[in-house]
Amino acid sequence: MRKKFIAGNWKMFTNAAGAEKLAAEVVKGFGPETRITIAVCPPFPYLERVAVVLRGSQVELGAQNLYPEKEGAFTGEVSPAMLLDVGCRHVILGHSERRHKLGETDAFINRKVHAALSAGLHVILCVGETLAEREANQTEKVLDTQLTNGLSGVSAEALSRLVLAYEPVWAIGTGRNATPEQAQEAHAFLRRRVGDRCGPKAAQNLLIQYGGSVKPDNARSLLTQPDVDGALVGGASLQAGSFLDIARAVL
Ligand code: PGA
Repeated sequence: MRKKFIAGNWKMFTNAAGAEKLAAEVVKGFGPETRITIAVCPPFPYLERVAVVLRGSQVELGAQNLYPEKEGAFTGEVSPAMLLDVGCRHVILGHSERRHKLGETDAFINRKVHAALSAGLHVILCVGETLAEREANQTEKVLDTQLTNGLSGVSAEALSRLVLAYEPVWAIGTGRNATPEQAQEAHAFLRRRVGDRCGPKAAQNLLIQYGGSVKPDNARSLLTQPDVDGALVGGASLQAGSFLDIARAVL
């Protein structure tokens, strides 16, 4: 049985006081629940103060990015070790906003995946097609390319510390979520491809989150699909109430 995993991607939102308050509300609302995994991913400047709020709770901490070097003259960048140092367990990599707004390539994302895994972080690797790609029937081809290149050189063992997030670009922040059937189809495809690459056991154990306009009212129908193992939540993770309602939808 794969344990459902709900992660909140706060993107470039909140401020110091708001991040602490939101984290505290999530901790309080989630309580000692252990049937699912839950994580929040605040902006870099608030990681450390959110880590303090999360201490002793079941809520885990993630970052939204890293730079794939141990240290060095990389002005403005953050290393895997720094994330671990401030209490992160997870890191989101390959988010479509970084692919499309900041020009990140599969090769660069693959370097980040290796850097994160070898430092001991857990990776949430995002993949997903644009609307034009879906309409041109390219969804599987795009997912296959992002998956194959993103995971290049990653062993089946290392996959136990990696979660995939299927995030159709046309559904992110648009209020237009994939239907449960579209999500299931893409997730089943991704799992099959991981199976081809790394064997049936790794594929069976792999968590695949869905992301893209997940809200309390659509969470249950998406999260009860057989290959949907959780959610990467953007907008709705900025209110503790809606984030917790999404998490409760899988209990
Ligand atoms: P959204 O974002 O829930 O606001 O659509 C999801 C994501 O970008 O991870």
